[in-house]
Amino acid sequence: MENANNGKIPTVMPRIGDPAPDFEAMTTLGKLRFSDYARGHWVIFFSHPADFTPVCTTEMSGFALEKKFFEERNTKLMGLSIDSIHSHVAWVQNVREKTGVLFDFPIVADLDMSVAKLYGMLQPGESETAAVRAVFFIDPNFTIRLIMYYPLNVGRNMEEIKRALIALQTADQYKCAMPLNWKPGEKAIVPPPKTLDELNERLKSDYEMVDFYLAKCELK
Ligand code: BEZ
Repeated sequence: MENANNGKIPTVMPRIGDPAPDFEAMTTLGKLRFSDYARGHWVIFFSHPADFTPVCTTEMSGFALEKKFFEERNTKLMGLSIDSIHSHVAWVQNVREKTGVLFDFPIVADLDMSVAKLYGMLQPGESETAAVRAVFFIDPNFTIRLIMYYPLNVGRNMEEIKRALIALQTADQYKCAMPLNWKPGEKAIVPPPKTLDELNERLKSDYEMVDFYLAKCELK
């Protein structure tokens, strides 16, 4: 399939703030163009090293079990590994049979590694044939907002994935920033003043303040 990088390893990996690279691929829900699937939604696009492997099975099940959480936050899921569509379908069916959990989001079959390379999911120091455990948070403007990479032998943390999504969406909504270990319900950081007028306003405000540049407010 024709993709933006013609199957070559890109010299620059996608970074936070970059447009999410578009691609067309076979998935467990049929042939999809990423931009069509993503339009109007946040997308969490994640890779796993291989089908029928234990850590990956726990992670994919974790995503599937949080279906309602992601739907409520206008967020679609998309998985990927360097496996065939037949392997994906057999694995999805096996996990459904054994555990009752259905991976009902699309999983990209990326045997030629073109999409994995486009997203920097193939990191040869870790493996030349399997994708690392990457998580891309992509906003409704197709901008990459947060990237996580985990190695082959350490599974991701679903609570942190959920926290990061809520933090990004809350930061956008309230135009604020989130401090260390921020959790929903806690105060957020108000951006520092950029003019002397803003500084004077800040000094009169009822924000919780360490100093004028470190102020927190309730999110209401
Ligand atoms: C796993 O998912 O269990 C796994 C996959 C590749 C390498 C090591 C572990």
